[in-house]
Amino acid sequence: MKKVIVTGGAGFIGSNYVRYIYKERPDWEITVLDALTYAGNEKNLEGLDKSRVELVVGNICDAELVDKLVKNNDAIIHFAAESHNDNSLKTPWPFVESNIIGTYTLIEAARKHNKRFHHISTDEVYGDLELDDPSKFTVDTPYNPSSPYSSTKAGSDLLVRAWVRSFGLQATISNCSNNYGAYQHVEKMIPRQITNILCGDKLKLYGSGENVRDWIHAEDHSSGVLAILEKGKIGETYLIGANGEKSNLEVFELILKHMGKDQDWLEHVKDRAGHDMRYAIDASKLVNELGWSPKYTDFEEGLKQTIEWYKNNEDWWKPQKQETEEKYAKSGQ
Ligand code: NAD
Ligand code: TYD
Repeated sequence: MKKVIVTGGAGFIGSNYVRYIYKERPDWEITVLDALTYAGNEKNLEGLDKSRVELVVGNICDAELVDKLVKNNDAIIHFAAESHNDNSLKTPWPFVESNIIGTYTLIEAARKHNKRFHHISTDEVYGDLELDDPSKFTVDTPYNPSSPYSSTKAGSDLLVRAWVRSFGLQATISNCSNNYGAYQHVEKMIPRQITNILCGDKLKLYGSGENVRDWIHAEDHSSGVLAILEKGKIGETYLIGANGEKSNLEVFELILKHMGKDQDWLEHVKDRAGHDMRYAIDASKLVNELGWSPKYTDFEEGLKQTIEWYKNNEDWWKPQKQETEEKYAKSGQ
């Protein structure tokens, strides 16, 4: 593998992955295919040598463009998606289009040209767990998605599985837990709260805040994906997670602590419809079979670094902030 396509490589996790392989695989040529939706940003790829990283601005649903790019590359690592649950509850169609039709378009090209395909997915396809359930998600957990976002991701996973079985597509799948780190859009939980404080606004906690998410640093997601791409068994699914379970309230309190604010800065707002209670990943298959391990095992330390990044990169997030908050205000959140 020398020439790879990274779809969604101008988004949060995709651009982290591009920077990761740029450093770890210096002989690879990377083509980023990204439509630069509201969530994509050319600035996420700044500083990378253009002779090694080419940005093609285009849509993964554009079969002609996809076919041409896939034909000329060795592998496709597929991150592009509509990714935010709250948006999917307001306007589901772009999720159906990008996540399902986009994935279909890519796997059709990958099978035609017999190229290696890695599909990025989420643990949210498994639905949610009770707070007191001792179990975690494994590759054998039945799919039970709750939202338009997670159901379209589930649909895309099932397409990939069917293409492996019916057409011999050379594919692997990974389902990862909640990511955090630099370059995450301010609509998502952690950057929204950090930038609210930086703008003099309160933190907005949905419901009681007892919901649990299993946090992983985006760079650990990237190293997991590279391990699967290079060492994973075709047709297999791997779960990526770093034992980072925390309630939303715990995360909010850490943000308050590290930004020097008291509880008065915390505001409870309207809960998300159908809000999943808890996600938790059992990543033992990836750890035991492919020898992967996460680097960021201290969430509080990773969160502190993330807060510093948003403090130092106001130019990056400021242009997105007002529009994002206007959308939230309309839905009482
Ligand atoms: P993001 O919204 O930050 O980035 C998505 C990128 O895809 C953007 O650059 C956007 O322009 C691009 N894109 C969207 N639709 C496109 C289309 N039709 N054609 C071409 N490009 C398109 O998302 P993210 O948080 O970086 O998530 C990336 C992937 O990781 C997604 O597949 C998501 O489901 C998965 N994932 C995310 C998380 C998380 O915590 N954010 C966790 C597990 C899995
Ligand atoms: P989010 O970052 O949207 O990720 P996901 O929906 O994929 O888990 O939200 C993470 C958690 O934080 C989720 O339980 C919803 C909650 N949340 C808030 O409490 N306040 C907010 O402003 C946002 C955006 C999310």
